[in-house]
Amino acid sequence: MEFETHCDTEAEAEVPKEPPKIHRLEESVVNRIAAGEVIQRPVSAVKELVENSLDAHSSSINVVVKDGGLKLIQVSDDGHGIRYDDLAILCERHTTSKLSTFEDLQSIKSMGFRGEALASMTYVAHVTVSTITKGQLHGYRVSYRDGVMEHEPKPCAAVKGTQIMVENLFYNMTARRKTLQNSSNDFSNIEDLLKRFSIHHISVNFSLRKHGASGADLHTVGTSSRLDAIRSVYGVSVARTLIKIETSDNNPSSSVFKMNGFISDSNYVAKKITMVLFINGMYYCAYLKCSVLLWSIRIYHNEFIRCTVIL
Ligand SMILES: Nc1ncnc2c1ncn2[C@@H]1O[C@H](COP(=O)(O)OP(=O)(O)O)[C@@H](O)[C@H]1O
Ligand SMILES: [Mg+2]
Repeated sequence: MEFETHCDTEAEAEVPKEPPKIHRLEESVVNRIAAGEVIQRPVSAVKELVENSLDAHSSSINVVVKDGGLKLIQVSDDGHGIRYDDLAILCERHTTSKLSTFEDLQSIKSMGFRGEALASMTYVAHVTVSTITKGQLHGYRVSYRDGVMEHEPKPCAAVKGTQIMVENLFYNMTARRKTLQNSSNDFSNIEDLLKRFSIHHISVNFSLRKHGASGADLHTVGTSSRLDAIRSVYGVSVARTLIKIETSDNNPSSSVFKMNGFISDSNYVAKKITMVLFINGMYYCAYLKCSVLLWSIRIYHNEFIRCTVIL
């Protein structure tokens, strides 16, 4: 009680007599705050970069990470690359090749379209892009800071596609960096994310390696069978118990949808449910966004099922 009274008095003493003055925030502050929301942890940067590589029709995506992604995240792909002429605005906010008019949203097939991810990274990290497009003799490399190029693109040797390096993530957000420095699970979050991507985008080869390590922690080889992809990532014991599920509705007055995936049968027992969910090709973090779905599955299976894989 004494403590509460003390706090009240202190709070009262701090109440200003005049309303505080409203002012415009500096653009750099606005951008950094916005960037911190788009890129919350290293795994969010990896997700954005891998989605860009997938949007660029890559068949091979290789990720290298140092210090759980805080020192370095490097994503290399063999996609269509980025035009030389676009490099100047590549990392400005709201620049995208995926959307032109509002109506385009109706038919959009890509994962990105807001043109915010790369820009955000340049406000909280040092970003370097190397890229080559079809028919070019050499590629170009350019570094970005706060949305703009630090220098003119320099010619460089390059193989097909794009490589994006994100270094010193949150170098200018001390509190965020400190919190993340003590976290040991950033690498496993990245590995988990890539496993999930690899069982949805089954024809793409994914690899994940710690910087300086000779071998990869994750290496998936493109396949035409989803079950094979699940087997190679989650193991034989998970794959063995999976049942294929499929349903659809085509009634415009109620619902139009198609769903397919796999779910483990009651022979599989594990400590926790694993749910992998993609809706219209977009990855959804099941625990955050689909708790209702998760609970209905649990109730339906009378709590027997501990490992669930849905695609
Ligand atoms: N790996 C990549 N390969 C080819 N183009 C890329 C790649 N990464 C980014 N881009 C280009 O940069 C643009 C901006 O990317 P981003 O900031 O993630 O926004 P968005 O994906 O929402 O368009 C993309 O629209 C795309 O044209
Ligand atoms: Mg994107």
